[in-house]
Amino acid sequence: MTRHFLSMFDFTPGEIVALVGRAKELRAGRGKPGAPAPLAGKTVALIFEKASTRTRVSFEVGVHELGGHPMFVSAKDSQLGRGEPIRDTARVLSRYVHLIMLRTFSQDTLIELARHGTVPVINGLSDLLHPCQVMSDLQTVAEQRGEPLDRWRYAWIGDGNNMANSWIEAAGQLKLDLRLACPPGYRPDEGILAEARRRGGKIRVVDRPADAIAGADVVNTDVWASMGQEAEAEKRRKAFAGFLVDDALLAAAAPGSIFLHCLPAHRGEEVSDAVIEGPHSRVWDQAENRLHMQKAIMEFLVR
Ligand code: CP
Ligand code: NVA
Repeated sequence: MTRHFLSMFDFTPGEIVALVGRAKELRAGRGKPGAPAPLAGKTVALIFEKASTRTRVSFEVGVHELGGHPMFVSAKDSQLGRGEPIRDTARVLSRYVHLIMLRTFSQDTLIELARHGTVPVINGLSDLLHPCQVMSDLQTVAEQRGEPLDRWRYAWIGDGNNMANSWIEAAGQLKLDLRLACPPGYRPDEGILAEARRRGGKIRVVDRPADAIAGADVVNTDVWASMGQEAEAEKRRKAFAGFLVDDALLAAAAPGSIFLHCLPAHRGEEVSDAVIEGPHSRVWDQAENRLHMQKAIMEFLVR
């Protein structure tokens, strides 16, 4: 059966832990002789309906390093942008390529692509989820703090957005202790919260950043206005007053805490320049790990 990676729930807890281990190996072995080439002779379509720096470049480099051919497809310059249904695109692309990564708005578009195509589909971010990023973040926590991953306390400060939802799914899968501070009206998806708790995640949603960050080993935030929400930026700036992760807030975290941000960051809004450039920040390792983790995921899906 064709496996897809549309959500953190698509991998078992054991597979997530194994992929973290594999991504660590790929990081250590990068550029050394004997690199695996599971994509030799294969082409991977990388479809983007939204902007990207990290996802596009890390997937293109990753496919190349696994011996395959990456093909960038801009939705607006293809027939997708003129309304060709995703189910038709799925069937056509499945005749050409061996794997598809899609960055899109609706999670349903990804589900439809996976349902009608015959090759594995990877979610490269939707309005609901960003699972490749959270897999890379788990690798970063494993490397920077150590394993097992459920030893640590996790905090999310800010919008209950796609990143927050994927972290909640990760908490469900790995039984993590995760506290999220979100302003009223900007809380994460209730259905995902309920399912993650059912799977064993120790998850609390609170109003005040101080209540989420107290004693946390891993502190995470993201932009207040995600792609597609630009028109709400001013309203959101007001709603998120007090949610800036600065040195004063971070002082309440555990000793040796690490700060994560999927990037791009808005310094002075969700995070201070001092925190992102400071000793707790691991954001550049986090960005690098997109490459290694996505190689591990692609290797797993085409095996
Ligand atoms: N973090 C992340 O997905 O970055 P891009 O939007 O640059 O791909
Ligand atoms: N929440 C952000 C993440 C960007 C990588 C967005 O969706 O724009």
